[in-house]
Amino acid sequence: MAVALVILAAGQGTRMNSDLPKVLHPLAGAPVLAHAMRAGAELEPERTIVITGHEAEAVEAAVAAIDAGAICRRQAEQLGTGHAVAQALPALEGFGGRVVILYGDTPLVRAETLRALADHPADIAITGFEADDPRRYGRLITSDQGLERIVEFKDATEEERAITLCNGGMMAVSAPLLGELLSGLKNDNAAGEYYLTDLVALARAGGRQVAVVMCDETEVLGVDTRAQLARAEALFQSRARAGALAEGVTLTAPETVFFAFDTVIGRDAIVGPNVVFGPGVTVESGAEIRAFCHLESCHISRGATVGPFARLRPGAELAEDVHVGNFVEIKNAILDEGVKVGHLTYLGDAHVGEHTNIGAGTVTCNYDGVMKHRTEIGARAFIGSDTMLVAPVSVGEGAFTATGSVITQDVPAGALAVARARQENKPGFAARLFEKLRKAKAARAARRELN
Ligand code: UD1
Repeated sequence: MAVALVILAAGQGTRMNSDLPKVLHPLAGAPVLAHAMRAGAELEPERTIVITGHEAEAVEAAVAAIDAGAICRRQAEQLGTGHAVAQALPALEGFGGRVVILYGDTPLVRAETLRALADHPADIAITGFEADDPRRYGRLITSDQGLERIVEFKDATEEERAITLCNGGMMAVSAPLLGELLSGLKNDNAAGEYYLTDLVALARAGGRQVAVVMCDETEVLGVDTRAQLARAEALFQSRARAGALAEGVTLTAPETVFFAFDTVIGRDAIVGPNVVFGPGVTVESGAEIRAFCHLESCHISRGATVGPFARLRPGAELAEDVHVGNFVEIKNAILDEGVKVGHLTYLGDAHVGEHTNIGAGTVTCNYDGVMKHRTEIGARAFIGSDTMLVAPVSVGEGAFTATGSVITQDVPAGALAVARARQENKPGFAARLFEKLRKAKAARAARRELN
């Protein structure tokens, strides 16, 4: 059945104590809201409607960046979750499928749970979970007929508060019914709000079927405080680590590896301890990332080895069997098959042809203080240690740069470029120099004693 998503993101989140709206705080490299939207996107919705309110402009800009097709509807005043969903109705006009409602501040919701809600034959399906500590969640009041109603904590009796079966918040409602039920909501409750949860009692009163889909408590975790954000990050990471292990990735010390929301790692890749994946990283099967590497927006092909202690920045593309060693930084550079960059090097805005060796201490001097420039290095070249490549510059195929060269002009294919001062040896000068220096030191000590 066709699905439309309604994502509530109008709330303020004062307890974050932040200038940034709570749904825009980053979690695993993407805004909290993006996680909820991604889970929803797996249902391939016909329409995605995000309800904004607090800091609406910033939230709407983020929504557009995450999903250009999403529609934002503003809720001018936050009068409750039911009122928030009502703001989506104009955008649902003509839609006859299933409306799946979720919160923008619950980033760990699973797509499978949303799918179970969407596919459920009942008129309304809501999520329930057994809470370890039910705190202020809404309680599910059931009878032998099933779910009767949801009572919010503020309105619950002591007896109802003792119930541990709670409302997870996500729900699915068949679209034709949604408008009808929302129009029946009232705000005569302890919070003075239009509660979305009251749809259940209204549906039951109208003889409709209501069902509960059980979910895990972690899926309901809302990000209202920095502590909850940190907890959500930790839960995200443990899920991502377990996922990588299950997919055949070796993690030597899983608890020290940090993934982004979109990290892709192939089977039989090996990831050493203390590796951080920023957004946009893809690692092919069989590649190895050694300890203490930091990677963002880059691609590592089959058979490549990276690190220990390497940094791959956006636009780094490593072809098969490339070796990038310790203290190497690569940015916006393509390294063709079999390139070796073993130690202490910066390659930025560059292309390196296949099987070229880059010596220790090589730097592409790509920035002149105003503009960035490119360095092109051909295949099977040899860049001697401590070569400064002052871009824009090119080194041809099979060329050789002498150690310590400052290359300011293009090097033709097959040429040897030597661009350094010539060495002069002065026989016996070292001993005389040491003697002179020692005398100077003794004279200085004598002067100090006199003073
Ligand atoms: C809600 C449920 C509660 C459930 C809990 C699970 C209601 C009335 N209560 O409570 O039964 O156990 O979720 O987490 O639905 N929002 C708006 N506009 C508003 C009000 C809220 O967009 O006018 C958004 C918030 O930004 C937030 C979400 O809706 O993302 C949930 O609102 P919140 O007030 O936090 O509901 P809870 O108290 O968590």
